Amino acid sequence: MKDITWHKNSINHKDREKLLRQKGILIWFTGLSGSGKSTLANNVSKKLHDTGKLTYVLDGDNIRHGLNSDLGFTEKDRRENIRRIGEVAQLFVDTGVITLTCFISPYRKDRDALRKKLGDRFIEVHVDCSLEECARRDPKGLYKKAKKGKIKNLTGVDAPYEKPKNPEITLDTCNNTSEENTQKILEYLKKKI
Ligand code: ADX
Repeated sequence: MKDITWHKNSINHKDREKLLRQKGILIWFTGLSGSGKSTLANNVSKKLHDTGKLTYVLDGDNIRHGLNSDLGFTEKDRRENIRRIGEVAQLFVDTGVITLTCFISPYRKDRDALRKKLGDRFIEVHVDCSLEECARRDPKGLYKKAKKGKIKNLTGVDAPYEKPKNPEITLDTCNNTSEENTQKILEYLKKKI
């Protein structure tokens, strides 16, 4: 970029990881609204925290209150939402923090772009639950609102969701308990951090 110079820091991510005694990774939860992304991310975060790991959860609803409060739910806005949060998440990973993100992130190319940047530090978790079950649970009343025509572009209803093709982890949150799913992630992470 013109007239902008990249400054190299005197301490790099390896130094920070050594200090923290852990590896900075990004655990990217993707799935429909109401599929259980936030619950799982928070469960995993707590379990890791209790074993002395530094973690941080970035959550779609919370980020949309601040950093991304100017964005809505058109394709353009959602892609910008994920681009920005991807940048933020990369900074977190660079600090050595085990970063967990819960965003619907409906477009495969946006998630794949992050995978390309982060390599084996990117762990995609598909939180897989049928639209029918998410709509039955409807924790935020959004599916009801969409049915009445009060909101538009609800993922799975009148906006697309592109399932991951090769996620590192797939969790069935329709049929398995959140304890079972949390355990499955922790098992996977044993080799990673
Ligand atoms: S994303 O598609 O851009 O990744 P994100 O995860 O940030 O979405 O935000 C989703 C959250 O916004 C949902 O959990 C829900 O609470 C809220 N929301 C409000 N309107 C919509 C909508 N039309 N579609 C999806 N989520 C919505």
